[in-house]
This record gives sequence, C-alpha cells and structure tokens, in this order.
Amino acid sequence: AARVSYPANRLANLKDLTVNEPLQIAYPDSDSPGVLIKLGTRVPGGAGPDGDLVAYSTLCPHKGFPLAYDGRDRTLSCPGHFSRFDTEKEGQQIWGHATQNLPMFRLAVDAAGDITAVGTDELIYGRTRNVL
Ligand code: FES
Repeated sequence: AARVSYPANRLANLKDLTVNEPLQIAYPDSDSPGVLIKLGTRVPGGAGPDGDLVAYSTLCPHKGFPLAYDGRDRTLSCPGHFSRFDTEKEGQQIWGHATQNLPMFRLAVDAAGDITAVGTDELIYGRTRNVL
C-alpha cells in the first residue's frame, strides 16, 4: 500500500468560527484551497467537541472549478457544470458530472481549540498524489 505522510497544518481556532459560515483555508499546501465549516450539528466524520467541524477541498473533482458554499442546504456547488456535494455527509456527491466524492480534510482539535488538518480522503483535483 502507498504510504503518504501528510503535513499537519493549523487552520484556525474554534473561537474564529461562526456556525454555518465557511472559513477559507488551504490544505495540504497553498495550491489546494478549501473551506472549514462549523455546521452546528454533529455529522459523520465531524471533528471537535461538538462533532460538527468539517473541511473540504473547494476544487471541483470534475474539472477543478472553484466550489461555492450554500448555507441554506449546506452544500458545496460548482459553477462549472453544476455538481453538488453534501458537507453533512463527508462530501458525498448529490448530483453532477464529477466521478468522485469531494475530498474531505481530516481534522484534529487540541485542548486549546486549535484546529489542524491532518490528512485527506480523496484525490484532490489536478493531482496524481495529494502530497507532492
Ligand atoms: Fe465542477 Fe464540472 S468542474 S461539475
């Protein structure tokens, strides 16, 4: 099996976040934009004391267009060809041309509330490996 050593990048602190307001981040490097969201309800794969912290790539897995967050239904949507991904279900694709779910960035939260990205679960758009 391929072994990948991911960098651990500090993204923010719990006190920087407002429920349902996405914070722009990048992981595992500055060429890979994403969002960090406190959803306000516990979800599968959610991190932190409330199990409601999630982070995703915002490069569409179809052709790399930048995804936009819609707080009404908590999806990330693509302006390119309209793929949609569910932020409450580990980036599951709801509709569209993409052929994979959205890469979810795995998070760790320490006692001081610092949120760190520690890995990702799908291939980020445009890459042959997530960590170059
Ligand atoms: Fe997002 Fe095509 S680039 S659906």
